[in-house]
Amino acid sequence: MSNMTLAIIKPDAVGKRFTGKIIDHILSAGFDIAAMKKIHMTTEEAQRFYAVHKERPFFNDLVEFMTSGPCIIAALKKENAVEAWRATIGATNPEEADEGTIRKLYAESVQNNAVHGSDSDENAVKEIAFFFSADEILSE
Ligand code: CMP
Repeated sequence: MSNMTLAIIKPDAVGKRFTGKIIDHILSAGFDIAAMKKIHMTTEEAQRFYAVHKERPFFNDLVEFMTSGPCIIAALKKENAVEAWRATIGATNPEEADEGTIRKLYAESVQNNAVHGSDSDENAVKEIAFFFSADEILSE
């Protein structure tokens, strides 16, 4: 599924009412939205989603942040979607993000960084399946 990636508009950006502006970036960059929904992650879901980071010093704060309010999650479709979405959002740390990227424009900090993007095709498949059932994803 190298044409799909998972996007999350995180609680900081949803709380600041940046959802519409970020969806505009998604569409302007040529992605199709194959699935989208609003969720409020439980602690258990956030711990499972970010399990790869569980030994990192920021893990507990990250889980607290991701459960602090609702997120918008989306499966995005485009050729080379993982790389294209990572280019659209910019570096994890907004101070290092390129001008015009979503994180440069809307992120607060390395943790409260407005959006998530899958980091590989393999993880994109897993992350989309974590939040969406197959029948929620439209391929048209
Ligand atoms: P994301 O792309 O969702 O993947 C892991 C998240 O952990 C990342 O965005 C940030 O929200 C957070 N993160 C990564 N590095 C750090 C860090 N050094 N300090 C705090 N949070 C971080």
